[in-house]
Amino acid sequence: MHRNIIIITGTPGTGKTTIAIALSKRINAKLIAVNDLIKHKKLYMGYSDDGAMMAKLPELKREILREIAREKNKTVILEGHLLSDISIKGACVIVMREHLKTLLSRLKKRGYPVSKIRDNMVSEAIGYCSDSSRKHYDEVHDVMSGKNAITTVLGILTNKRQHTKSIDLSYELEYMLKKNPKYFI
Ligand SMILES: Nc1ncnc2c1ncn2[C@@H]1O[C@H](COP(=O)(O)OP(=O)(O)O)[C@@H](O)[C@H]1O
Ligand SMILES: [Mg+2]
Repeated sequence: MHRNIIIITGTPGTGKTTIAIALSKRINAKLIAVNDLIKHKKLYMGYSDDGAMMAKLPELKREILREIAREKNKTVILEGHLLSDISIKGACVIVMREHLKTLLSRLKKRGYPVSKIRDNMVSEAIGYCSDSSRKHYDEVHDVMSGKNAITTVLGILTNKRQHTKSIDLSYELEYMLKKNPKYFI
């Protein structure tokens, strides 16, 4: 596995943490959950209305680079939705994607306020993390969540799969808007 830095990003609820843990075990990599780092190192300026931490991105980037430098001989997996908004040189980025219907039921189950569910649903519908990652990184792969995701990711990392086209979920939007307008508008 020649990639030393692997980033797992995506809209909250798409399965980042699940796949990052599985992957770190499979390839014996050091796993860094960016949300934990933000909490432990107090890299936030406050909380938004819906209770989410508002991270200081330049400080976060500095801290991530420090953590990477500490792991000289080990592959590092960074996991978190904020990673799509910063750049880490040389990283291979995996953007986890999920069907809107599945994502909505997961976010409802988490008990998030409607406004937070809406932000995340719109984000996934327009492919925000995918687009933003493509602006910040050279190598970006969208991977659909589900039971084959880990195989797909391993295939990408061993270069068996060139998987760089972004996944477009906007075709699901019309149905979802009709069924669940309050989670989109
Ligand atoms: N590949 C998968 N297949 C089915 N359910 C999944 C899969 N990945 C994650 N989940 C479920 O979806 C929920 C959100 O996953 P999680 O990894 O916490 O997402 P994230 O870290 O992106 O917010 C969890 O309840 C998890 O069990
Ligand atoms: Mg998570």
